[in-house]
This record gives sequence, C-alpha cells and structure tokens, in this order.
Amino acid sequence: MTSVTSLTSAVHQRLASALSAALPENADADPLLRRSDRADFQANGILALAKKAKANPRELATQVVEHVVTGDVIRSVEVSGPGFLNIMVTDRAIMENLAARAADPEGRLGVPYAERPGTTVVDYAQPNVAKEMHVGHLRSAVIGDSVVKLLEFTGENVIRRHHIGDWGTQFGMLIQYLDEHPHELDHQSAEVTGEEAMSNLGRLYKAARKLFDSDEEFKTRARRRVVDLQAGDPHTMALWQKFVDESKIYFYSVFDKLDMEIRDEDIVGESGYNDMLAETCRLLEESGVAVRSEGALCVFFDDVKGPDGKPVPLIVQKSDGGYGYAATDLSAIRDRVFNLKADTLLYVVDARQSLHFKMVFETARRAGWLNDDVTAYQLAFGTVLGEDGKPFKTREGETVRLVDLLDEAIERASAVVREKAQDLSEEEIAERGAQVGIGAVKYADLSTSANRDYKFDLDQMVSLNGDTSVYLQYAYARIQSILRKAGEARPAARPDLDLTEAERALGLHVDAFAETVREAAAEYAPHKLAGYLYQLATLYTSFYDKCPVLKAETPEQVENRLFLCDITARTLHQGMALLGIRTPERL
Ligand code: ARG
Repeated sequence: MTSVTSLTSAVHQRLASALSAALPENADADPLLRRSDRADFQANGILALAKKAKANPRELATQVVEHVVTGDVIRSVEVSGPGFLNIMVTDRAIMENLAARAADPEGRLGVPYAERPGTTVVDYAQPNVAKEMHVGHLRSAVIGDSVVKLLEFTGENVIRRHHIGDWGTQFGMLIQYLDEHPHELDHQSAEVTGEEAMSNLGRLYKAARKLFDSDEEFKTRARRRVVDLQAGDPHTMALWQKFVDESKIYFYSVFDKLDMEIRDEDIVGESGYNDMLAETCRLLEESGVAVRSEGALCVFFDDVKGPDGKPVPLIVQKSDGGYGYAATDLSAIRDRVFNLKADTLLYVVDARQSLHFKMVFETARRAGWLNDDVTAYQLAFGTVLGEDGKPFKTREGETVRLVDLLDEAIERASAVVREKAQDLSEEEIAERGAQVGIGAVKYADLSTSANRDYKFDLDQMVSLNGDTSVYLQYAYARIQSILRKAGEARPAARPDLDLTEAERALGLHVDAFAETVREAAAEYAPHKLAGYLYQLATLYTSFYDKCPVLKAETPEQVENRLFLCDITARTLHQGMALLGIRTPERL
C-alpha cells in the first residue's frame, strides 16, 4: 500500500509541532490550515489559541514562526494580519510529491485507503415495477452510483441494494388482468427491447385500470387477487414474476443507457422482505416500541404531528392486517444489520421521503437495531426543476420519461461533438455523443449539493464553457492530444526546476486530490469532487495559456510540463470515473 503524504498534511505536521513547541501546554492544538489565495496555505488557528492563553496573537504567531522547520517542504512562513500565518511550500516539494503520486504502483495517485473501513449498505436506484422511470429515479441512481464508487475507492466494503417497488395492492389489478388475458406478456421473439417492455407494461396498466374503474366484478376479482398474492399462491406469484421480469428488461435498458452497472443479485425489492414482516411486527409489539391503535400497529413520536395537532404515527401494520412501506423498510434494516452485518446504512432517496425515514430510523433505534455503532443516514436529494422553476413536467403537465430526457441529452451532445470534431467518423461521433450527453446529465446532477433542487437545463449542461462535464472532457482530450504530439519527449518530473506561478497552482491542486476524495467519500458529497475537478480544469487551462509545453525553453522543462499535463489528465480521469463519467481520449 503506497499512500503519499499530501503537502497539506506535511505542512500541517510541521506547524503543529511548531505550535506545541511555542505553547507546550496546548500540545495538541490545531493550526487550522487552509488553502489560500494569498499564499499556498494559511493557518488561522493561532487567534483562538492566543485568546485561550491570554497572549497577544501576533506575538504568539511570531514565536511559532521561530519554531517552524523550513527548507524541505516549507519555503517560507510569515505572520500576516491579526495573527495568521502565510505559508509557501518549495517547488521541489510540489514536484516530488507529484512524482510519488505518479509512481503509485496501484495507479491510485497515492490516495490512501480509509484507516478503519467498515461495511456500508447503499440503497439507491430503486425504480418501481410496471412503472416508467422519471427524473427522481435518475437522481438516486446517479448520486448513489458515485457514492458507491467513492466509498469503494477508499476501501469500504460496500453492499448495494436496489429496493425496487415490486409489491403492494396495485399488483392485484395487474395480475388479475394478465390472468384473464394470458398472452399479453408472451413474447414472439426472444429479444425484447427496454422500450418494448415498457410499452407492453404501460398498455397493460392502462387496460387493467380501465377495467378496474368501470367493471365492479373485475374490481372484486382484483381485490381477491391481492389476498392470493399475499398468501404466496403459486399461480399468482408466477404472474407477478412476469411483471417483475418485464420491468427488469426495461430498467436494465435505462441503466445501460446511463452507463451504469446494476447487478441482478443487488436487486432486492420490497418483496424480498416478505418473510420477515410478521416477525418485525411481533418484535416491535412485544418490546412495546409499537402499540395497537384503532386496530393498526403504530409507533408514535412526540415531534411528529399532523396539521390538527394530533400525533401522526408510523403505521407498521394496517388494521386489515396488511403491511406497508414502513414494515418493509424496518425489515430491510434488520436484514442489513443482522444478516449483512453492516455498520452504516445509507439511503439515497428523495427529500420528500425524509419524514418516513426519520420515523423508520427512530423506530429501529428504539428497537435496538440501530445504535451508536450501527447508524442509518438518508442522503436526501432535492427536486429536479424545469426551466420555470417548478418540478420538471412536460408541457402537458405529465412527468417526463427519463428515457426521452437521456435521448435528448445525447442528441444535443452529439451536435456539439460533431461541430467540434475534425477527424471523427460517424461511429465515433455517436459513441462520444453518448459519453458526453450522459456525462452532462450526471455532472449537472452531481455538481450541486444533493439536498438542493436544480434546474434541468440541457443547453447549459452541454455548454463548452462553464462548470460542465463537457468542459472537463475537453480539457482531458486536449491533454491527450498534447501527449500524442510530444513525439520523443516523455513526461518526467524534474524537481530541480523552478516553477512558475501557474505551474505551482496546478501542482498544489493536483496534490490535493487525495484529501478531496477522502472528504467527498466521508461526507457522501460527490459535489465536492466535482467542484475540485472543475477547478483542476480551470487551473490547467491557465497553465496551458501561460506555459508553452512542447515549446518550453529547455528539454527538462518540456519533460516537466508534459509530466504536469499527464498527471492532471490522470487525476481528471480518475476523478471523473468516480463520478461515473467517461473521459474520451479524443473529442
Ligand atoms: N421505490 C421508491 C420510489 O420510487 C424508492 C425506494 C427507496 N428506498 C427505500 N428503502 N425505501 O420512490
């Protein structure tokens, strides 16, 4: 395992020992190091310390400066303002650090593994059987996929769970209809496309609904069918399975379009917990966590009340004996904690379900299934808005089909690629168009903090300027083209050289990749990585504008600049991969 000590940590260590030498009674004080515009780093921790020690902050800062070891990593340290420290690092330290990152035999740029990895179950990408996927499902899939990748990259043991909606009373109507029209889901040919599967399901749903609303006898038969389903009647289950299988064809086609790997064994839908529901209720009732109220099994909370001031309970079992969404989620918690042995449960689910999860988690804590060592967290995401700032709908007010949206993104992106492309074949344009279009959609989602709403604006998403994935992909492709043009010259770090401002800024930022990944993973915050990558591309652009690479003054400088290009590209590639976005070699 080769991790590289980042410059931030190296500077931090030196400042922390200087601090404890100057103030021995505060040996573990934090210098509070930040990246800064004025210097490479700024330390702000002395003000608070001086206050505590009743000392003059500038005097204390001056004392600290005297104790700082300079030379290898730190080039200079100065007192600034009311008692800050401005720190510059040496050019050599920057290049040596980057060289060590480039040489990482595991190819992970010296990013360390977490010290104590655990087991996290990530619940994401959970569409519903026999229903069209919409933008809400897009967000869960895109954010979840990136969080999974980030966690796995830090060495966490990740178990994926796609809690699809495959159970409930609505299936009674569908199954009954299929039973009465048995050839509806029989396929003539072996190959059914996702589109066809969804249109079959849509047609069936409409027909079943129509009958259900107009024909009382069908309604009665459909209701009886729900009972058969819950009892696990084999014929009914076989029909239900047909809906699940048909839906999976559709789901996989969408995930495929999204360039996302979803594995069959990770799809454990609501029905997967059927066998646990009765026991979950029994455990909750016996422990007194849940109580019977008007026939239903309920859990009450002091702070959850309806508009009339009356408490609104979490209903674990309805008065007719039926189990709902809460019973399933509580059973899933038991499965994830006791069978899968997870210590963290993460739910990537719409913020509109936050009250549900708050009550479910609190119930599980009262039952002792969750505690200080085994925790659950909802990574709640906001709503996707249309250009009018309202939840994204078609002009007719219908929810937008995810597939249509993705197709349009790919089409727009292909136009952008075609316009810029000089030597790409039609086939390449189609392939790049998909990578750019899907990347644009993912990046727009991941570059704002998950809990915020965002506007779905395709024009902005595929724009070449600004904070878009296309901008990052072009930066990457441009670097690859320079590396191809380099001919005999090879990238090589030259720590003896003096660096320019632009080279220093780029180098320092590349070095900060490791800590950015750690932070983004620890906080489930892909937007922090996206922001980092955007800045990386921006710093690269200004480096490229100011520093000729292939026409640099000396062969050593050419090599060193090629090295900076190369490690920037590798960092972009790795970072984008963690967001689930491709970086084509040519664009
Ligand atoms: N299928 C649900 C929906 O479409 C999301 C499921 C979220 N996960 C869970 N464990 N409840 O809204």
